[in-house]
Amino acid sequence: MSRVAIVFFLLVFNAFAQEYGYQIYRQYCASCHAEKLETGSDQSTIKAPPIDALTRQIKYFYRTKDKFTEYLVDYISDPSPEKSVCKPCIERWGVMPPVKDLTEEEKQSVALWMYKNFR
Ligand code: HEC
Repeated sequence: MSRVAIVFFLLVFNAFAQEYGYQIYRQYCASCHAEKLETGSDQSTIKAPPIDALTRQIKYFYRTKDKFTEYLVDYISDPSPEKSVCKPCIERWGVMPPVKDLTEEEKQSVALWMYKNFR
């Protein structure tokens, strides 16, 4: 493959993986996690921390894409208080239930979508 073709392939692949990650989020995470913290809305009734705030918190501990993905895939497969980067979340809601029925690749795409779309 020429270099141009490789760059093009990577761009398309990246966009595809992120779009795919968003679909996984809609299907498997959105029932509990809102995408964004809605300022001014009633925070006392939400079921789980919003994805934007979570991503910020995770990046504080796991800055690179690889570390971020590794942490995320592991946490959602087998959540525990020891692995948590948000102790107040655990105190408020208890540990989240493990996410079943997702392949390793699907978990990685949702991680990539979070990493790329939230700061
Ligand atoms: C049944 C509700 C529910 C579903 C579905 C769910 N979560 Fe959670 N999640 C929670 C709750 C409650 C917390 C806060 C407690 C905790 O941190 O474990 C949480 C916390 C988290 C955390 C923070 C972990 C930490 O370090 O404390 C991440 C990351 C996360 N969820 C990602 C996801 C992703 C990605 C999905 C979809 C693949 C998902 N969750 C699906 C309820 C859910």
